[in-house]
Amino acid sequence: MEIITSAKAMQQRALQLKKQGKSIGFAPTMGYLHEGHLKLVKQSLQHNDITVMSIFVNPLQFGPNEDFEAYPRDVERDKMLAENAGVNILYLPELSDMYPNELSFEINVTKRTDVLCGRSRPGHFNGVATVLIKLFNIILPTNVYFGMKDAQQVAVVDSLIKDFNFPIQLNPVDTEREEDGLARSSRNVYLSDEERNQAPHLYKGLQIASEAIKNGEVNPLNIIQMVEDYIKTNTNGKIDYIEILSFPELNPLNQINGKVIIALAVKFSKARLIDNIILDIH
Ligand code: PAJ
Repeated sequence: MEIITSAKAMQQRALQLKKQGKSIGFAPTMGYLHEGHLKLVKQSLQHNDITVMSIFVNPLQFGPNEDFEAYPRDVERDKMLAENAGVNILYLPELSDMYPNELSFEINVTKRTDVLCGRSRPGHFNGVATVLIKLFNIILPTNVYFGMKDAQQVAVVDSLIKDFNFPIQLNPVDTEREEDGLARSSRNVYLSDEERNQAPHLYKGLQIASEAIKNGEVNPLNIIQMVEDYIKTNTNGKIDYIEILSFPELNPLNQINGKVIIALAVKFSKARLIDNIILDIH
């Protein structure tokens, strides 16, 4: 596995690969790798000549009271996991390489961000979009791989690629879960033992909602109430949001119909967990 740490070297390598006619699959991450990240790599390996993974904890997407400093990091372990997964090039930029000087532009995502995490984390998707524009221009990917665990991120990247004509194919990847249903996340390490036992109820709540919808419930408010009651009864977590929206447009719905997302965020003492499911109802 090649490890590249400068934007210039990475971009030159990507240009060289392009000249050779090679397709580049790209999985951007913030590291502390787990099976969810590696699933993106697996898919990329199947469809591209070269698979690039980046690891960069992007300060721009963390709010002032969020966990940028405390975000879990273990680069040596990540290198091993990435290499074993078959990553060809690991791009590990330093902060000073990614943001050598203050940016002269501000990226402001104006659609698909007034709901879900965009509402709870103001500026978050501006930071995500900014770093992705840079990463896309540095790595020149043919295909990019994003996890559906962060479904709103997928919706924003979909707009980013279309709005700015990036010649890139977006590939959403299903959420990888623990055996008990908990969505894998770098932040799961922050859970206490008790919280870890409660955390699978987030997905169970979503499954209960899914069943009720499949059985004919069409009122989003009834479903949201049902999930809220379930989570409150079964966990000590504080509900940040439970929402049902169209996907990928993320518009509110009076009635559940078509492709919809049921998404939630729950705060435990040290970790805020998110999860969602997508249903196609006709
Ligand atoms: P990070 O949280 O490290 O996630 C990197 C990628 O892995 C994202 O596309 C995310 O959706 C995916 N992922 C995380 N957990 C997953 C799971 N359980 N199953 C499937 N995929 C999963 O998302 C980011 O980093 C950043 O915002 C980034 C895109 C790198 C920009 O800084």
